[in-house]
Amino acid sequence: MTAPPPPVKPPPHPELLRQAAEQFGTPLYVHFEGTVRERCRALVDALGGLPVRVLYALKANATPALLRAVADEGLGFDAVSPGELALLAALGVGADRVLYTATSASDAELEAAAASGALLNLDDVERVEAFGRIAPGAEVCLRFNTGIGAGHHRHVVTGGKEAKFGIPMDRVGQVLGVAARHRLRVVGLHQHAGSGVADPADLWLAARALVEVAGGFPDLQFVNVGGGLGVPYRPGEAAVDLARLRTAVVERTLDGLAAAGHPDAEVWVEPGRYVVAESGVLVVRVHTLKPTADRVFAGTDSGFNQLLRPTLYDAYHALANLSNPDGPLRAYDVVGNVCESGDLFARQREVQELRRGDLLAVLDAGAYGVSMASTYNLRPLPAEVVVRPDGRPDLVRPRLTAVQLAAAVLGGDGPS
Ligand code: LLP
Repeated sequence: MTAPPPPVKPPPHPELLRQAAEQFGTPLYVHFEGTVRERCRALVDALGGLPVRVLYALKANATPALLRAVADEGLGFDAVSPGELALLAALGVGADRVLYTATSASDAELEAAAASGALLNLDDVERVEAFGRIAPGAEVCLRFNTGIGAGHHRHVVTGGKEAKFGIPMDRVGQVLGVAARHRLRVVGLHQHAGSGVADPADLWLAARALVEVAGGFPDLQFVNVGGGLGVPYRPGEAAVDLARLRTAVVERTLDGLAAAGHPDAEVWVEPGRYVVAESGVLVVRVHTLKPTADRVFAGTDSGFNQLLRPTLYDAYHALANLSNPDGPLRAYDVVGNVCESGDLFARQREVQELRRGDLLAVLDAGAYGVSMASTYNLRPLPAEVVVRPDGRPDLVRPRLTAVQLAAAVLGGDGPS
């Protein structure tokens, strides 16, 4: 008989979280740099000895202090917007470490990305044509939709017929013709099946679809099998098995490429969530406890403007009461201060008894937390603290006051 999962997940470094919240106020994102570095090393070690390049998809979390740590660990980057490219350049990341994965890109965006020196990853035949006009003779990577999708929610499935991404596989011949006409050298083939995949072996079928066409690309230097590695959000869930990524996806892809006439080709992977999800905690304060005939609503000083995942994807984030860790478990609807009923962190979730003023930790919020935050309802973005590997907390983004936020909105309009 297997043991039942623990009802609540223990928060990482609860004392540091409490101290940071008291010192810097809430709502507060706390990122542990040591965890980010540890995840980078786990990936590099798991794939060690193979011709592999690991890129970090910075859409998951672009907090500069963490990007510096990721760069320092030797990873490259997958960027998706001119803003991300500019940030990487400002951090001194060389363009040779950057893949630019464009979608619905304008000519101006393609020109700017090409001028940055990054390798472009294009996902539409006509955009390859446009890029050929902009940069004839350049190197390029092609993103395909292999027809195979995966992911934790339908919004994050990026392969298959409902996904807008990638060149359909039946267009391989056409895109080869376009590339040849502009002397584009197709050095990479790419796919990304989706996000939040629990078993990395599920990525093999999509990778195999690229291997099957690899023989037709004489200049091929790598196949990028995408990101998508899941993390254990729920108590008792197992961590992703990186040994399976190595054997079931990367080694098979390398073997397939060798058989297709590319014995020197590399495999690239580009996870986002895996690198940062577990390094981040959103610490909020409980301000109201509203019992109704049916349930108790626990109202916090944060909301879906600061962590959208529960609202957008029904995503599960473990909660832990930092102020009453040994309290009895009670069920709450944990909600925020945004004026919408969809503003919630969890429904009917058992958490250690909450009292007004308690600090509540929303765990595993490092990926797609702060990077998807907004100022909706004109509340400021949450402040951010990075806890350095030696335990020192650095406030890397202060919280704007209401007056500063209003001034930013007014911009050139100025107070009248
Ligand atoms: N590469 C490409 C081309 C991608 O589109 C993505 C994510 C990644 C890599 C990184 O995927 P990851 O390893 O993080 O699963 N906001 C959603 C996730 C959206 C993912 C979009 N693409 C969430 O909070 O679950």
